[in-house]
Amino acid sequence: MVDVDSFIPEAKAEIEDQIGDANAIIALSGGVDSSVAAALAHEAIGDQLTAVYVDTGLMRKGETEEIAETFDFLEGLEIVHAEERFFEELSGVTDPEEKRHVIGEQFIREFEREAKETDAKYLVQGTIYPDRIESEGNIKSHHNVGGLPEVVDFDGIVEPVRDLYKDEVREVARALGLESVIAERMPFPGPGLAVRVVGEVTPEKVEVARESCHIVEEETAEHEPWQAFAAVIGKATGVKGDNRVHGWVVCVRSVESRDGMTARAQQLDWDTLQRIQSRITGTLDNVSRVAYDVTHKPPATIEYE
Ligand code: XMP
Repeated sequence: MVDVDSFIPEAKAEIEDQIGDANAIIALSGGVDSSVAAALAHEAIGDQLTAVYVDTGLMRKGETEEIAETFDFLEGLEIVHAEERFFEELSGVTDPEEKRHVIGEQFIREFEREAKETDAKYLVQGTIYPDRIESEGNIKSHHNVGGLPEVVDFDGIVEPVRDLYKDEVREVARALGLESVIAERMPFPGPGLAVRVVGEVTPEKVEVARESCHIVEEETAEHEPWQAFAAVIGKATGVKGDNRVHGWVVCVRSVESRDGMTARAQQLDWDTLQRIQSRITGTLDNVSRVAYDVTHKPPATIEYE
């Protein structure tokens, strides 16, 4: 386990060392990893840091509003509305790895534009240890690692939590006094809801995934999963009212894990599963079926793509 008392001053000293008098931007996603990276960098270099949050259109329900509220202590938080650009770049892309690369590249382009405006030479990221291992081992390119384009217009990338596991990052978050909504937040993948829709990313599928994820998070909260969400995995026939519909199939996943490297599908009770099913099919007219994923990791991964 990380010794937070020595980790925090060492991480801050390293950030100061790397960045010197230059300006930097931090890619804030609202998740615990980038929040801790932002808080460390803010303490280390103060107003040389600009925090940038890119709304990709692939975020959780209400996330953008929540971020703006939670991070108003980072004076000058920039919220970039890039939804249209992301959907345009993703149009027609169906291969999971290509999706990740398209998203990684678009993220960097957004930051480069912001960096030019603030004359930032460094990009701070919340990459953690499992992200690096999985990208290096080629299990998946985590968008903030393996998905980086080859030409990145920064003098350097600073990754202060690169050697930590998720539970260690949470411990540092608590020690830094970050609000519990952040410190205890469920992990959310960098490429967002794009990896929770199988195949092409369209606004319609993403909206189904967003609303379904919200319902799943609410209904499973008392069971304290490590991660719980829903993914849009295809289409199937159903009957709604008097009509046959060819609607989306939503697959619910709830897992227990320590670090995301391995995971066990959670054994949810029937009442919870049925409540999730009836809320999702009741709220979303275009969903015909709800399934539950009982696969552990391995052989599955936690996310769908
Ligand atoms: P997988 O799907 O690889 O996920 O079993 C393991 C954990 O990592 C999260 N995940 C990501 N996190 N960038 C991230 O920052 C990514 O590209 C990414 N892909 C997956 C996933 O939500 C799970 O917690």
